[in-house]
Amino acid sequence: MIDLSTEYLGLKLANPLVPSSSPLTGELDSARKLEDAGASALVLPSLFEDDIVNEQQQLERFVHSQALGHYEAQSYQPVPEDYDSELDNYLARVQQFKSALDIPVIASLNGISNNGWIDTGKELQQAGADALELNVYYIAADPSTSGEEVENRYLQLLTDLRQHVSIPVTMKLSSQFSSVANMVLKLQQAGAHGVSLFNRFYQPDIDLETLHIKPHLELSSSMESLLRIRWIAMIRGRVDLSIAATGGFHRSEDIIKALLVGADITHLCSALLKNGPEHLAILKQELHDWLEQQEYASVAQMKGSVSRSCAINPAALEHSNYMHIIKNYDQ
Ligand SMILES: Cc1cc2nc3c(=O)[nH]c(=O)nc-3n(C[C@H](O)[C@H](O)[C@H](O)COP(=O)(O)O)c2cc1C
Repeated sequence: MIDLSTEYLGLKLANPLVPSSSPLTGELDSARKLEDAGASALVLPSLFEDDIVNEQQQLERFVHSQALGHYEAQSYQPVPEDYDSELDNYLARVQQFKSALDIPVIASLNGISNNGWIDTGKELQQAGADALELNVYYIAADPSTSGEEVENRYLQLLTDLRQHVSIPVTMKLSSQFSSVANMVLKLQQAGAHGVSLFNRFYQPDIDLETLHIKPHLELSSSMESLLRIRWIAMIRGRVDLSIAATGGFHRSEDIIKALLVGADITHLCSALLKNGPEHLAILKQELHDWLEQQEYASVAQMKGSVSRSCAINPAALEHSNYMHIIKNYDQ
């Protein structure tokens, strides 16, 4: 019997396959299918700062209009009695998922500013979330913003969130830091229990007919997993927090590589959107079969056996590998 279990953010998970935020993890019906296919936990779609802030403003307007009386405050829109806020819906979903599913439910907060929305984490914890993922989807487009300012934004949001919750917190990062390894270390020192490497930024495209910018969401491909695998290989053993691999994990080979370099779990999104929740069962079976063929008794035994600290030649992952590849390109 191969033991597929793993530990992530202090949670004991039955296996390392965890669907990340997507429309599939937001509906109970598809979440049940994911659990039936073997998902060991799931991350809900994000609750966005913009939604929280809009609601806070709407509530403030409502309270203000009540205080003034409707006659004097006709310009204020009262909140309808049957109004369900995004936050209320999200909290209800956490509770519903927690009572309907046996697997841990990780809630996700997504935002960038430092204006009070982050204390919502407390309500997510009270609703029963097993952990929180914080996704700071920030693109530093202003040339006067320094890398240090960007990093501090992440660190401040994490510190603020940690003050409101006692459940584990993980940070979903992009790869666009000057020093990814140092950033992960700083997040660990600021109290992160884990990191999720790496978020994908969606690249807007240009419509050549209209010359307008058009939003563009393309699902990932397996190739993208190599960036994640490389970075996890280099930092595992040098930091002490949970690591999730996310972005480009489609085939069992991709997942096996991420575990070999030290990921605790791999997230799945595009692969499940393309192939349906049932695909997870195939990946799980293939992971099991590979471990059996290679005579590993457990995921714990194989995890990290090809990370930088274990690799015979760490440079193979770094500079000399680059030189070797470009000098040996064969047309
Ligand atoms: C349709 C769609 C919706 C997503 N929604 C969220 C979200 O709400 N919050 C979030 O942090 N990531 C979200 N993501 C990002 C995924 O969770 C994942 O990090 C990304 O797609 C990379 O993984 P993949 O290569 O397996 O798709 C979404 C992705 C897609 C395709």
